[in-house]
This record gives sequence, C-alpha cells and structure tokens, in this order.
Amino acid sequence: MALNFLNMKKKLPVLGIGLGLRRELATETFESKDKIDWLEIVPENYMDLGGMAGERLEQALQAFPLVSHGVNLSIGSTDPLNETYLKSLKKLLDTVDAPWFSDHLCFTSVDGHYLHDLLPLPTSREAVNHVAQRIKTVQEYVQRPFLIENISYYMNMPGCEMSEVQFLAEVLEKADCGLLLDVNNVYVNSINHNFDPYKYLNALPLERTVQMHIAGHSHGDEMIIDTHGNPIIEPVFELLDYVLGRVVVNGVMLERDQNYPEFSEILSELNQIRKVASSYQPQLAKLNLIETDTNGSPELRNSICHTLDTSAGRRSAHAS
Ligand SMILES: [Fe+2]
Repeated sequence: MALNFLNMKKKLPVLGIGLGLRRELATETFESKDKIDWLEIVPENYMDLGGMAGERLEQALQAFPLVSHGVNLSIGSTDPLNETYLKSLKKLLDTVDAPWFSDHLCFTSVDGHYLHDLLPLPTSREAVNHVAQRIKTVQEYVQRPFLIENISYYMNMPGCEMSEVQFLAEVLEKADCGLLLDVNNVYVNSINHNFDPYKYLNALPLERTVQMHIAGHSHGDEMIIDTHGNPIIEPVFELLDYVLGRVVVNGVMLERDQNYPEFSEILSELNQIRKVASSYQPQLAKLNLIETDTNGSPELRNSICHTLDTSAGRRSAHAS
C-alpha cells in the first residue's frame, strides 16, 4: 500500500467517543449501545479464539464499530516480527473490518520471551530507524492504517540520545504512521519525569493523531502509576481539551481496566469527554448523545464548565 498517512487520515471515519471492551463490563456495555459510539478491543483476547470470547466479539461486532489496540506486537524489539501473530492479527482486523489498528511504541519481548510489560526503547537514532522500518513493514502487511501510542514509562533506558517526545515525533515522521495520543500517559510522564505536558504536545506532529486515550491513574510511593483504575482528573481533561482545540481527531476512547465503578460513572465520564469534544468537533462529540444538565450532577456540570471556561486561556498560554 503506497502510503501518505495524512491523506489517508482524511478518508477515515469519525467514530466518536468510545470505550474499551472489557469482559467485566461487557453486559452493561452492550446494554448501553445508545450511549457509546464504538469499542476498542484488545486483539490478543480474540485472535484465533472461539467460545465465550468469540461470542462476545460477535455480539460487539453486531452493535458497534470496532478498532483494535494490541499489546504484544513488540514493534520495538530486536526479535524478528512474529509472523504467526501478524497473520492472526490481520485475520481479526479483516473480520471486524477495523478502520485502523494500534499498538504501543515499546518492546514487549526479548529472545522470543514475552515480558508482559510495555518497556520503553532507548531513544537513539538507531532505534528510530529500527522501529520506523518495522512499523512500515507491519502497515504494509496488514493493509490498514497503523497508529502507535505514547506509553507511560518509569525509567529511561541506557543509550538515550534524545527526549522521549523527540523520539516519538521522529518515529511518526519516518514511519509515516498515525498517532494514538494517550493524554493520561502524557500527564503521568510529565509528573514522574518533570516536564511541561503542553511543551510535549507542542513538540509532536499532532496532525497525525487519529485516536486518543483518556484514563485515570493512581498514586504510588514515589511515582504516579498509569493504572486505568480511577476517574479522570481535571488536568488530564485539560490536555484533551487542548488537543481537540488544535487538531481533528477521529475517535476518543476511555480506558478503564480495574477498580470498576458503577457503570453509570463510566457513562458520566463518556459524557464529560463528549462535552469537551463538543466545543471544537461536533461530529466527534455526536451532539445528539450529550446528556442535558438535568441528567448530570451539579459537580459534573461545575467541573465541565470550569474545564471549558478556562481552556481558552490555557490554549493561548501554551500555544507554540
Ligand atoms: Fe492508552
């Protein structure tokens, strides 16, 4: 596929505001299809599987557009690309007709052993060339637009030659691929590694953003941790607001992976995301789905008003 990613992005659908499909939330998710625009699936949970996983996938496919967000591609590894994995991934993507697919800018395997963690790459020129070539190879094989996600990381690898954001920007340009921008990861990293998250965003080719993630995090002893186990905090909503005010995005997705609340709280968070999007991108927000004030708590309304009232000032303060 001869690629020019930015031209390809213009042809991608605007999916709206989505949720990660999780087994624990599946029943309520399916019951709430009028309030959720699309679902993100973890392909490793469905590739080559039938049984209950297959049934859940079929049910999801009947009700929602699906996109795929993998964890085991290991795009940055020095292991050869796993052809068996890629074949199964392509088959799944073809089955669900995903408009795009994504994985993380990291490595998850060494010498064929999977580490079950998303580990950062050394931000070297050699690694830029290595991972960009592999992204091109994968995109060519799968024949669908490929997005890479900025990860949360808790250490710097030996051999770093540039900042993480410079590394990410160079990989995006050299691979000519898309960005899955996780604003919670940007916030978590900005606290743990002491940088300005707005300068980080300004250093990225944001126009490559097709999808965004937003989530909550937890506080550890020395660092904050990207757990997806708490409500989204306002500074993370502000980063979402900042990005949506600057570039067209095709989908925003709420990640919730543990410490599950009442499903109504998840729906409230989706509504908050919709309201932030509504200020800039009505098609993304799907305005007809925004719950009116009478359905929201006063706290929620105040929080949203504050987010929107203060965003204009922040945007001009942080704009590059
Ligand atoms: Fe994420």
